[in-house]
Amino acid sequence: MKKALALSMAAAMALSLAACGGSTSSSTASTDSAAAGTSEAASEASTEGGTVANKDKPLVWFNRQPSNSSTGELDMTALNFNANTYYVGFDANQGAELQGTMVLDYIKAHIDTIDRNGDGVIGYVLAIGDIGHNDSIARTRGVRAALGTGVEVDGAINSDPVGTNADGKQSAVQDGTLEVNGKTYTIRELASQEMKNSAGATWDAATAGNAIGTWASSFGDQIDVVVSNNDGMGMSMFNAWSKENQVPTFGYDANADAVAAIAEGYGGTISQHADVQAYLTLRVIRNALDGVDIDTGIGTPDDVGNVLSDDVYVYNADERSYYALNVAVTADNYQDFTDSTKVYAPVSTQLDATAHPTKSVWLNIYNAADNFLSATYQPLLQNYDDLLNLKVEYIGGDGQTEANITNRLSNPSQYDAFAINMVKTDNAASYTALLSQ
Ligand code: BGC
Repeated sequence: MKKALALSMAAAMALSLAACGGSTSSSTASTDSAAAGTSEAASEASTEGGTVANKDKPLVWFNRQPSNSSTGELDMTALNFNANTYYVGFDANQGAELQGTMVLDYIKAHIDTIDRNGDGVIGYVLAIGDIGHNDSIARTRGVRAALGTGVEVDGAINSDPVGTNADGKQSAVQDGTLEVNGKTYTIRELASQEMKNSAGATWDAATAGNAIGTWASSFGDQIDVVVSNNDGMGMSMFNAWSKENQVPTFGYDANADAVAAIAEGYGGTISQHADVQAYLTLRVIRNALDGVDIDTGIGTPDDVGNVLSDDVYVYNADERSYYALNVAVTADNYQDFTDSTKVYAPVSTQLDATAHPTKSVWLNIYNAADNFLSATYQPLLQNYDDLLNLKVEYIGGDGQTEANITNRLSNPSQYDAFAINMVKTDNAASYTALLSQ
């Protein structure tokens, strides 16, 4: 019924790449006309806030790309808000494919022991972060594509949660088939659920910790693998259940606690190169405020030699977006990733304060309780803000309502630039409206 797993996986990923706007097909950072067109207005912003209209100040969206949360279509109005507007994130499809492959490779390498009850069915459960977030959607698709459990809807793999799927009959997924050493196994997504708490916060680690308890009581030793859209939820499930039961658990983000847990049986994680993303988030602001080519210190060395190589990021000019590339972190290499808040060495040299005077930036984290953003991303931003001579005001949201954050952007005139992490990817206009007033 199914072709070779590798083949169906490649096809499925190609489809999902196409569906998501194909960020991987972009070229590396270039000085295309749009990107090179740093605004004159920005270079005039020499004092805090200055006389530049708020609507003309540099604006960087990060981590949550302005887009339609149902279709994934990019919100190009928000991405082109002004000449100095960009998005900084990571390549969600490349990372998702890596995560899926990492899980599949682990299963194959441990085929003699993975099937805990020996029934020939390799069962996994999946913690979904946010059904309307493109990172989460891509990861669900990537895992299903690699394991052969994905079902296509309108040319892309269905990323809906299945609830429970004890008999393999749920229509959002299908049973996959894996052949190793002449033996054929079934791979089944036994359960999956969006981890949203009652207050509405998504990617919720505590919810995942509870869910694994429920799943373990229904499925017991049918669960052979635990997969999560991120490490926050993955570690919560690992600590609540899988560590003790020695069930490999896979996450995403390479948060320090997850990397350390690989020594104790956590299966693996993906680094989304937060060290490169945090740099890019502040670097494009620095460049825009300096009135220099946007590629400075990115694809082109700056005056102190900071530069990124093209194996760690891509720039897609049409999407006005910088995407860091992902790396799998497993038992083979985790020792290189133990400090998740260390700045990336090739871009770690302090800028001269005379040539690059202090500027002030308003930056929000959509949910102060988000494991990845608070334990990895923000500490990195705080390391880079010093190196780039930016005085950043960090605002932590509640992860539930945009108003909780926008209420704290009451005086944008005080700042030279803005870096925004939305609660919902559809809501860019709530911010740009404030900057346009
Ligand atoms: C991270 C998640 C995080 C989310 C927040 C994702 O890229 O992998 O851990 O919760 O961003 O928006």
